[in-house]
Amino acid sequence: MKAIILAGGFGTRLRPLSCTRPKMLLPVANQPLIDWCLMNLSKSDVDTAILAVNYFAEALVRYLGTTKYDLGILYSREQRPMGTGGPLKKAKEMLNLNEPFIVMNGDIITDFDIKRLVDYHKEKKGLATLAIIEVPDPGRFGSVERDSESHITRFVEKPEPGKAPSNLINAGIYVLEPEVLNYIPNGGKVSIERQVFPILAKEGKLYGYEIHAQWIDVGVSEDYLRANALLLNRSDGVKAEKAKVNQTATLISPCNLAEGVEIGEDSIIGPNVAIAENVLVGKGCRIENSIIFPGATIGDYTNIKNAIIGENAILHRWVKIESGSLIGDYAEIEDGVTLTRGVTVCPSKTVGESVLDQHQVM
Ligand code: GTP
Repeated sequence: MKAIILAGGFGTRLRPLSCTRPKMLLPVANQPLIDWCLMNLSKSDVDTAILAVNYFAEALVRYLGTTKYDLGILYSREQRPMGTGGPLKKAKEMLNLNEPFIVMNGDIITDFDIKRLVDYHKEKKGLATLAIIEVPDPGRFGSVERDSESHITRFVEKPEPGKAPSNLINAGIYVLEPEVLNYIPNGGKVSIERQVFPILAKEGKLYGYEIHAQWIDVGVSEDYLRANALLLNRSDGVKAEKAKVNQTATLISPCNLAEGVEIGEDSIIGPNVAIAENVLVGKGCRIENSIIFPGATIGDYTNIKNAIIGENAILHRWVKIESGSLIGDYAEIEDGVTLTRGVTVCPSKTVGESVLDQHQVM
């Protein structure tokens, strides 16, 4: 069976990180997002993953090659972004048109067993079966209404507040019959959620299979950090065998320190911290529930809590970064600066004064 992974989105809300690399290479627990997706697929009956890619495609090809986790990997390249539906039509020649195929958003972390979705799809004999999951706030997603026979009777993409038909949402994993490709116009940008699913729902050919599993859409900083914590908690406590950790420093489980990381005296790292290659952390630092990209420098007595620090960023001494803040690649934060409440710093920007406003972009 084949699966198409939608791996070409820009990731608007994580832009300071996704403007310099494909979103699928963002590290989660020190392993790119795409690896987690492929690992999950490799446990199902899928033998080939077709990656639908556009911007920074070469970086993904270079990273993955033609096979990984026992899956063959093919690439379907778009000149321009074709949305979530156009890439499926474009990859038609790569599919087996005599059997259903899987479609998966590449930016989802889940431990859901895809085989079950395929079995359910075969049992129901619809044209498409979506994995659906209950969430407290459906506004960011596609909300569905379903009847007692699991038909999806209504599909509303990103509903306005109070307009969601239910708290059940599209989990971004589908099984589709090849006939669904006839519903996708040729050649252009198509949103499967807005242009195809509502029609299939009206025709009674769309089914929903409710999943009860860990599921995170890595779309905003808070969820990116949640995914990181979830996967660190699933693995082996403290992993730091290739890092140089001062004897007086403390590592709190779970945390993952990659090769070439250095931690200075009296620093406390963890829980839920992933630090990528060659990051230098000074003395007396405190880092908790955070993701640090390769090559960053963290000066003495700096505090990082619930934050994401981009590649080669420099945080000087006595800096405080908190509450969903995101520091872009190569940004520089000067001595004594505090950034909190979801502040985003663009790549290469130097910040010399504290910012305490909510969600300010600099
Ligand atoms: P936001 O802009 O933050 O909503 O993120 P996004 O661009 O990733 O969009 P969305 O979450 O709606 O995308 C769902 C999935 O489709 C993700 O895995 C994206 O990577 C992927 N995707 C979105 N747009 C395209 C596209 O134009 N081409 C391809 N190949 N994949 C896409």
